[in-house]
Order: sequence, then structure tokens, then C-alpha cells
Amino acid sequence: MVRLRPVDAQRDAELFERLLEPDVAGPFNHFDSTSGAPLRVALPGAGRVVIELEDGTAIGDLTWFGNPYGPTRPSLAWRIGITILPEHRGRGHGAAAQRMLAERLIATTPSNRVEADTSVDNIAEQRALEKAGFVREGVLRGAQMRNGIWGDQILYAITAADLGI
Ligand SMILES: CC(C)(COP(=O)(O)OP(=O)(O)OC[C@H]1O[C@@H](n2cnc3c(N)ncnc32)[C@H](O)[C@@H]1OP(=O)(O)O)[C@@H](O)C(=O)NCCC(=O)NCCS
Repeated sequence: MVRLRPVDAQRDAELFERLLEPDVAGPFNHFDSTSGAPLRVALPGAGRVVIELEDGTAIGDLTWFGNPYGPTRPSLAWRIGITILPEHRGRGHGAAAQRMLAERLIATTPSNRVEADTSVDNIAEQRALEKAGFVREGVLRGAQMRNGIWGDQILYAITAADLGI
């Protein structure tokens, strides 16, 4: 249904600009100036892929970075994030793409865990993650500063054992 491909900076410039527009990023992925200064640090292991349909239409992106739970490499979990263009939502693409990325990250790296966190109010992403096989693990209180307000995030994860890898 969907596939993931590497970023092509020139070809994807327009897509990436669109993903930043407030009405595309949506209320849970748009951070105005009252959210504070941008975090200007290189996140460990950060990556990005484009989500496309079988006919090559680019419909969104997935990003990830490493979140360490200990001093050794296997304890680095991956934290992923996603945006699908509004006209392609509600067709299962978000769930399929996140499942695909989780499988790939677990199969090709020493990590055991892929995580995603989303606002307690972001029902679409919670539903997409649950359809992708992610397990709801708990609430991260006051974790995200968005548009001047501290919000709670829900933490989801999928492990190698969940995936049978
Ligand atoms: C979250 C997002 C990636 C989901 O992508 P998607 O392709 O629409 O996801 P899916 O179609 O796989 O699943 C979405 C599910 O949420 C449901 N849904 C959507 N909006 C909903 C709402 N307001 N209330 C309840 N359920 C909702 C859909 O019906 C669907 O469930 P279903 O298949 O059981 O009917 C997409 O909505 C998006 O890009 N949102 C803006 C950016 C964002 O919020 N990213 C995540 C930040 S953490």
C-alpha cells in the first residue's frame, strides 16, 4: 500500500515545505513562537524517509532519533514521528508506514524498541499507532511545550518480541 524511500533533497523540497504549514502539521505538530526556542542540538542517529504510494506519489514523512536507556548501544531505543498530507489521511497509510519503519529499524539495528509519543488529545495518531501494533505504555506528564501550554504525551512502543524478530 505504501513504501518508504530515502529523502531526495531537491525532489522533496516542496513536500517538506508543505509539511511545515500549520494546517498540514495540524494542532499537535505545529509549534508557534510561544513554544520556546527551537532545540538546536543534533539528535543521535536522526533519520528521515519519505512515505510514498505505489505510483510514486509522496504523501508524508517519517523521522526518528535515538533515545538512550543505558550506556550501551542495544539500550538505544528509536523514537519516531510522522506527518501524512491531509488529503491522504484516514486510509491506513499512517499505521502501515509506522509499522514498516518499526520493523526496519528493529531488523537492521541492535535496538530492541521503537517508540512514539503523541498528545493525549491526538486520537488519530493514537489509533494509527495501535493499528500498527504499538502498545500504549503510559502518560508522560507535562512533557511537551506547545503553543504556550505544557501538555501530557502518551508513550507507545513496539519491541522486537512484539514483532517476532
Ligand atoms: C496522525 C496521522 C499520521 C495518522 O495518519 P493516517 O494515515 O490518517 O492514519 P490511519 O488512517 O492509519 O489511522 C488513523 C485512524 O484514526 C482515526 N481518526 C482520525 N481522526 C480521528 C478523530 N478525530 N477521532 C477519532 N479517530 C480518528 C481514523 O478513523 C483511523 O482509524 P480507523 O482506521 O480505525 O478508522 C495523521 O493524521 C497526521 O499526519 N496528522 C497530523 C500530524 C500528526 O499529528 N502527527 C503525529 C504527531 S505525534
